[in-house]
Amino acid sequence: MLDLTAVRARFPALADGFVYFDNAGGSLVLRDVAERVSEYLLTTSVQTGASYSHSVRASERLAQSRASIARFVNASRPDEIVLGPTTSALMRLLATSMAPQFSPGDEVIVTVFDHESNIGPWHILKERGVVFKVWTINPDTFRVDLDDLRALMSPRTRLVAVTHASNILGTINPIAEIAAIVHAGGAKLVVDAVAYAPHRAVDVQACGADFYAFSFYKTYGPHFAILWGRYDLLAELESQYHYFYTKDKVPTKLEPGNANYELAWGCTGIVDYFDGLGGGTGDRAAIVRAFDAVADHEAVLGERLLGWLRDRNDVRIIGDRHAPRESRVPTIAFKLDGRRSDEIVRRVDADRIGIRHGDFHSRRLVEHLGLADGGGVLRVSMVHYNTIEEVDRLTASLERALAV
Ligand SMILES: Cc1ncc(COP(=O)(O)O)c(C=O)c1O
Repeated sequence: MLDLTAVRARFPALADGFVYFDNAGGSLVLRDVAERVSEYLLTTSVQTGASYSHSVRASERLAQSRASIARFVNASRPDEIVLGPTTSALMRLLATSMAPQFSPGDEVIVTVFDHESNIGPWHILKERGVVFKVWTINPDTFRVDLDDLRALMSPRTRLVAVTHASNILGTINPIAEIAAIVHAGGAKLVVDAVAYAPHRAVDVQACGADFYAFSFYKTYGPHFAILWGRYDLLAELESQYHYFYTKDKVPTKLEPGNANYELAWGCTGIVDYFDGLGGGTGDRAAIVRAFDAVADHEAVLGERLLGWLRDRNDVRIIGDRHAPRESRVPTIAFKLDGRRSDEIVRRVDADRIGIRHGDFHSRRLVEHLGLADGGGVLRVSMVHYNTIEEVDRLTASLERALAV
C-alpha cells in the first residue's frame, strides 16, 4: 500500500492544491531530483575526464548516474544506457545510426497507435528504399491483434517499432509476446516506453526489446531521456560523434557533445525515491515492489474515473472500459457527445484542474479513429500521487461543465 501523504510530500508542486491530471504530458518533479540537479550545478559542474579532484568527482557521478538508471530499467550493464535530451531526439539518432544496416526492399513495421516519435524518425529509411507497413488497431475495440502483426511480418522485415503503452488509449501492449514474434521473424524491436515508465517497473531484459526509450520529464524528473539498447546491437550502430569516437565507443559515440550530466545526476533521485517506496533495500526488488504498489493504486484511480464515465450515456471511452493493472495505465481518453473537447477543458481549467484535449502527437491514431474533430479527445492522465478525492473533484467539475 502506498502512503499517499508521504508520497505527496515528496512533490512540492502538489502543495498548492491544484489537481494535476496532465501527467502523460509531463509529471511533477520530485524535490530530491530538483535538489540534486541544483547541488550538482553548484558543486560538480566541471568537465569530466580530467585528473583534478572536482573532475574526478564529476566523472564518478556520471558513472553512478548511468549505473543507477541501469538498475531502474534492469539493464545488464550501465554502458547500455544512452543519455539524451528527449525520446524524439533519441529515436531520430537511433534511426540515423541504424540506417546503413538497411537495403532497398527491406521492410519496417510501424504502428498507427504510436506517438509520432516512434513513427516519423523511421521514415528517413525510405531514402534507402525501405518499404513501410502499418500495424493498426480495431477502431471499435481499440485493441491490438498479434495476428495482425504476424500477417505483416515477412522474410524482409528488419524492424518493428511499437509503443509499450499508448499515450491515449492507456493500453499496455504485450511487449514480450511482440518481441517473440519479431525475433522469430529475424527482425529487431524498438519500443517507446514514454507512456509506460511512469507507471510500471521497466525491465528491458524481460520485455525482450532490442532498443527501448523513455523520457524522465514524464517519470518525475527533468527534461531528459534515455535510450537503452542491447550492448551488441549498440556496438553495431554508426557513430554520431567525432571520427575518433569509433564504433566500439559505446555509448559515448551516441552522445554527441556533453549530455546534461546534472540532469542525469538528478535522475538518481527518481531511482532512490522508488527504492524507498519499495522498502529501501537498494536492489532491483525494491523497484519492483514500489511499482507493484503504484499499479494497485493506479488501478483504483482508473476504475473510479472509468466507473463515472461508464455510468453516463453521453460518453465514449477511447480505450479499455476497465482498468486491470496488467493491461492498462490510468491514462484515460474520452469524447462527450455533442460537446467540443476544448470547451470542456476550459471549463475544468477554471476549477484548478489540469486536463487536456487534442491528439497528443499520436495524430495518426486520432485520425484513424475518426476523432480529430471537435478539439480531439479529452485526456485525463493520472499517476500514483493522485488521489480518489482528486478524481471526485474532476467528475464534479465535469458534471458542472456538462450541465451548462
Ligand atoms: C508515448 C510518447 N512517446 C514519445 C513522446 C515524446 O517524448 P519527448 O518529448 O521526450 O520527445 C511522448 C510525449 O508526449 C509520448 O507521450
